[in-house]
Amino acid sequence: MVEERDRAIKYAHDNRARFLNELKEFASIPSVSTDPAHKGDIQKAAGWAAARLEALGMKNVQIFPTTGHPVVYGESMTAGEKAPVVLFYGHYDVQPAEPLELWESPAFEPTLRGDNLFARGVSDMKGQMLAGLFAIESIQKTSQLPCNLKFIFEGEEEIGSPNLAPFIASHKDLLSSDVVLNLDSGIIAEDFPSITVALRGLAYFEIRVSGPTSDLHSGMFGGVVHNPAQVLCELIAGMHDDQGRVTLPGYYDRVRPLTDEERADMKRLPMDDKHFLRITGAPALYGEAGYTSAERVGARPTLEVNGLLSGFTGEGSKTVLPAKAMAKISMRLVPDQDPAEVHQQLLKYMEKNAPPTVIWEVIQMAGGFASIVDRNTPGVQALADAFQTVWGKPVGFKREGGSIPVVAQMQSILGKASILAGFGLPDDNLHAPNEKLHLPTWYRGIDVVIHFLFNL
Ligand code: BES
Ligand code: MN
Repeated sequence: MVEERDRAIKYAHDNRARFLNELKEFASIPSVSTDPAHKGDIQKAAGWAAARLEALGMKNVQIFPTTGHPVVYGESMTAGEKAPVVLFYGHYDVQPAEPLELWESPAFEPTLRGDNLFARGVSDMKGQMLAGLFAIESIQKTSQLPCNLKFIFEGEEEIGSPNLAPFIASHKDLLSSDVVLNLDSGIIAEDFPSITVALRGLAYFEIRVSGPTSDLHSGMFGGVVHNPAQVLCELIAGMHDDQGRVTLPGYYDRVRPLTDEERADMKRLPMDDKHFLRITGAPALYGEAGYTSAERVGARPTLEVNGLLSGFTGEGSKTVLPAKAMAKISMRLVPDQDPAEVHQQLLKYMEKNAPPTVIWEVIQMAGGFASIVDRNTPGVQALADAFQTVWGKPVGFKREGGSIPVVAQMQSILGKASILAGFGLPDDNLHAPNEKLHLPTWYRGIDVVIHFLFNL
């Protein structure tokens, strides 16, 4: 077995240049799931992933249409009945690249600078998806696969996986497995490997406020008509109190309090205020009183303004009282909050606080439950040992602030917990301009997956 591992690892090292080229090819497909203009690119990326599975010799490769973007499936069941079945999850869609002018090289022309590859989706998560596939190829080409494999690649993760739950529910047998590996996460630092043990949930809304039937001259009507932009800003300002707590009625009722043990665990991670100041470049940090930064980002719920739109924002000045204003608002949720309940809480807040001078509307968008993973399972242990082998040091266990709705969906529909990891870094600029992947960490990641599969 040791020899087999060594051969696979050597193959992975010898093929790094080609692996990189394949990642460049995949990342040059602008598979932006939220933008209808990229529907063709989504199809192309799904086709690319399916072709990659076929090139690996996977069987039963299929592209399943859904009401939204397709799901790609493939399998290899040659390791025998006693060998575990590992279900690899991935998403081939990416976030929009805008604002394009802030990219140092074009978002869909993968560009190498130093140790990093820059392009939208290289870290989140095309690189992570391929790390799994390249690990499998490295074993396959040098010995025999120790596990049976299944793959599910979706194209709607970045818009909240709205059509995945029905697909999972209607393909339970196809997706049955012993272990689910989801590499859509990252590690804390280049020299601090970690496994993700929790994700936050999400509830995403658009709030629209309107007043007069048309934009007005701000001199002729300012003073008699309530400005919708002002109303919306006041409503948003009221959503936090002076302790940084969210004021929606009942918002904290279901929040599971942190245990002393969890708090002690988090203290051990290299995620102090300096870490966040360095990564974000913000002049100072902000958040809920009474909790550390690592706790606030991993284990406490929040509310963010994702975007604001109203009135005149062009160059120069224009004296106008806008007819309407819009904000995109999202809440990151923790166990045991429910996105549907949070929707009701937001409606209650608006009913109570919106003045009669405007008309408002709340539109519900992406949503998903938080998840928590039991770290004391053989699968997590196999992965922790794999990290230990490659990095030469023990992993930390981290609660992640981001969301992956499929994790809770698989938990509730298939009854399967996911093992969560990945080889991205906190400064990879996910969802932002100049997204990048740190290649030395990524190459180590391929080795980790090789060891993981043998450890299982
Ligand atoms: N890969 C991220 C989630 C993530 C980020 C995990 C950082 C660990 C570390 C994922 O693709 C993502 O961004 N998800 C969205 C989900 C949402 C649209 C429902 C998110 O968290 O905003
Ligand atoms: Mn992702």
